[in-house]
Amino acid sequence: MRFAAIADIHGNALALEAVLADIAAQGIATADIVNLGDCLSGPLEAGRTADILLPLDLLTVSGNHDRYLIEHAAGDMHEWEADAYAELSPAHLDWLRALPFDAVFRDVAYLCHATPDEDNTYWLEQVSVEGHVHLRDRATIEAWATGITQPLILCGHTHIPRAVQLADGRLVVNPGSVGGPGYTDDAPHPHKVEAGLPHASYAILDDASGRWSVTFRLVPYDHMAMSRMAAERRRPDWAIALASGFVA
Ligand SMILES: [Fe+2]
Repeated sequence: MRFAAIADIHGNALALEAVLADIAAQGIATADIVNLGDCLSGPLEAGRTADILLPLDLLTVSGNHDRYLIEHAAGDMHEWEADAYAELSPAHLDWLRALPFDAVFRDVAYLCHATPDEDNTYWLEQVSVEGHVHLRDRATIEAWATGITQPLILCGHTHIPRAVQLADGRLVVNPGSVGGPGYTDDAPHPHKVEAGLPHASYAILDDASGRWSVTFRLVPYDHMAMSRMAAERRRPDWAIALASGFVA
């Protein structure tokens, strides 16, 4: 079996289109793509991204930012959601409401946005009090995987492409972010996440060899068009990240 995992699109329709084209060029069908959430939030093209995603009918799990769009009142949203919400139709919001917290793809992969417990904790990374983002300790990574029977476990949320092999051979894979190559956050400690390049990231999973392999794909696209859009919408932090993959 061979399939693709995408995550953290964040309303970046141009990046999504580039990734979908690259997936097709790899010979992978739309039915063999899974989506790990955080689809629309951000100052880019939330509505157009939703218009692309809905007809694809990908197996999609809800991210924390998908949840924020449907659980907060319009006037009480974080700026990422406020920007996106203005572009969304009732049909887009109904689609978000229907997204499951987690899912299983063809009995080979367990899907969640962040961890199996909740949607806003880094599974594979830890943030130090100094703000350094680094690989989480093995015992904690293993503990969250308890009870999952599939050989692959797919998560997103941190925007960092990474794969971890558990002691029993299972792989936990984060495909990185399609549309958001850098951001800052205050929790659990102030920190930044930087891909270091502006490309759109996703992963291909393949068991042709008899064991699962992971290929991370970093796809160039017209990222400066999205950077300019963010700047026009007065989100200079997004503009810098989209231009460079760094946050400053
Ligand atoms: Fe997230």
